Amino acid sequence: MPKLVSPDTETPRTVGPQALIEAARSVYDNAYAPYSHYRVAAAVLADDGTIYTGCNVENAVYPLTICAERAAIFKAISDGARKIVALAVVTANGGSPCGACRQVMREFGEDEMPIYIADVTGAYRTHTLGELLPESFSGDDLDVTEAE
Ligand code: THU
Repeated sequence: MPKLVSPDTETPRTVGPQALIEAARSVYDNAYAPYSHYRVAAAVLADDGTIYTGCNVENAVYPLTICAERAAIFKAISDGARKIVALAVVTANGGSPCGACRQVMREFGEDEMPIYIADVTGAYRTHTLGELLPESFSGDDLDVTEAE
């Protein structure tokens, strides 16, 4: 008789760096980067185990460009996720996430969240969000009652 595992004691499905990097890599060719020609792809893991992907989408009005990391995070949040637990980003040369994206990651992720920074060959390095955005400002800082 095969051993049955009840749902409440089952080990949660874990998604490792390779799987998240592969998910990001799967949308790398979708990047819309006719101006910079710098493709970026990202994948975020929500706390329920769902992976959301995103790529950079540029615009002729340059500042309207959205980065891959934020595209992926906004897809997750739009689908109802509220906590992200890991993120992978893929570029040709292993480029690091920009400051704006780090701040958006902080809105939905903890300092301990791993960020896998990969190149298109799959080679990667790992940093935590806290390393990339030390002494960050977050919603916690807004929980203040002003002294009268
Ligand atoms: N880009 C990203 O998608 N993520 C980053 O973290 C850095 C920059 C994009 C924006 C733009 O389309 C191109 O890379 C060059 O800046």
